[in-house]
Amino acid sequence: MGRFYITTPIYYANDAPHVGTAYTTVNADALARWHRLLGDDTKFLTGTDEHGQKVADAAAKNNTSPHEWTDMKSAQFKEAWDVLNISYDDFIRTTEPRHYDSVQKFLTAIYDNGFIYKDVYIGLYCVSCEDYYTMEASNEGKCPIHGRILTEMEEENWFFRLSAFEDRLLEHYAEHPGFVTPETRRNEALSFIKGGLRDISITRSSISWGVPVPWDQNHVFYVWYDALINYLTAIGYGRDDGEVATWWPYSHHLIGKEIIRFHCVWWPAMCMAAGLDPVSHVQVHGWLLLGGQKLSKTMAAEGSVRLTDIAPIELTNEFGVDPIRYYLLRETALGNDGDFSHEGITQRYNTDLANNLGNLVARVTTVVDSKCSGVGPAPRPDSSLRAEAEEAVRATSDAWRRFAPQSALEATWNLIGATNAYLESCAPWKMDAGPEVDAVMGDALEAIRLVAILTSPAMPAVCDEIWRRIGLVGSPRDVPLERSAPWGQYPGGVGVVKGEPLFPRIKVES
Ligand code: MSP
Repeated sequence: MGRFYITTPIYYANDAPHVGTAYTTVNADALARWHRLLGDDTKFLTGTDEHGQKVADAAAKNNTSPHEWTDMKSAQFKEAWDVLNISYDDFIRTTEPRHYDSVQKFLTAIYDNGFIYKDVYIGLYCVSCEDYYTMEASNEGKCPIHGRILTEMEEENWFFRLSAFEDRLLEHYAEHPGFVTPETRRNEALSFIKGGLRDISITRSSISWGVPVPWDQNHVFYVWYDALINYLTAIGYGRDDGEVATWWPYSHHLIGKEIIRFHCVWWPAMCMAAGLDPVSHVQVHGWLLLGGQKLSKTMAAEGSVRLTDIAPIELTNEFGVDPIRYYLLRETALGNDGDFSHEGITQRYNTDLANNLGNLVARVTTVVDSKCSGVGPAPRPDSSLRAEAEEAVRATSDAWRRFAPQSALEATWNLIGATNAYLESCAPWKMDAGPEVDAVMGDALEAIRLVAILTSPAMPAVCDEIWRRIGLVGSPRDVPLERSAPWGQYPGGVGVVKGEPLFPRIKVES
């Protein structure tokens, strides 16, 4: 069995969780769940990024202290992730003592290695990005992303000698072709490096909301500089070398495309400077965008809506938790931008969930109820569905391994389609009770057993329910895939439950 350590970005505690942050978190969760299904020793980290001016400003605007504010915001994130059934193993807050400890030790290592020096910095700063821009990179003095006027800052700061790492970074990319995926994002990161690297200012004396610089009491670390280190804090950097060696560098960061420069240029250089190998893999995903489609009534009533205004909890109330998880995983290939819309969710729900999966389970349990006295028969070793099932297991596994949840679900849905087609061609509902119906139903139940296993990382609660309905005990996650995937393990002779529709169809107003 392998090891799998996956992280999400830590989310700024200035804002509430929204569909965009839920997108990353659900993808990371499904990947973690897949690896647990394989039997891998898995660790899944998420959390909140609580320092920086943006958070301090949000607290001040709400007449509260940064500490009270971040307590409230991190609780909101945890609540949203609990609703979405996110199985994180650790939730890190950058205000925790363990993080201060790791950040100070990690940066002291870089300092001791001679890559940090003091200088005066003059630059244009965007608080929303928590980042500097040169005049050329700005939009006539405004932030190219947020459109707000950039603030001119002049500070005596500590600098990280990023420029010293240009060649080593290029070598690293050449030696590790899979370091950043997909390829387009890798090329983007490479072009940042090839464009020339300037040293970066990594401390602030103008604010006190941050991790103190151990060798200079007047400074705190710049928020991005402390934030990136969270991935090491959570595995005990500076406190537990054994734990660090267990998880690092064989780890995976899942990030949105706007933070490539931090994760694929700064972060590997910081690790090199501290004497550590960079993380082995950064998987970049695109953005969910809100198209021009019609929105739900409550949202439309509130006037114009941005994606970041949509709370995951509102969506799960409307569609259910697993359908939202499914939509986020299935609609867009990880790496591409995707369109988010209520019409899109309804369409996926009615087609993939109600018509395909829900209908398959309903048909099979109904026929078993009426023609097999409610007792599920065993499958045949030579079923014509067997080859389809084996291919689905292979293709689904391959896609999850490649960080491609969309293709993985597509491959699993091929088995659902093949099983529905098989039932239509045999039409067991027209047959008299007897060995022929039993044979067909045994095969279909075995296909459903496999579908429940393969879909469990995406829709854990629904798959538990399917498992129960076909008369199995425990959950599809109980046995490692290698043992549960071979055809023919549906036991037969167990009671099958005909229940309410798993996915009642959503009426579409015309
Ligand atoms: N705090 C930094 C990350 C530090 S990691 C060491 C940060 N936080 S954030 O709250 O702005 O979250 C950014 C992440 O949220 C993106 O990288 C992405 O994973 C996710 N998304 C935010 N909006 C999104 C979309 N519209 N679509 C998809 N993902 C989005 O940056």
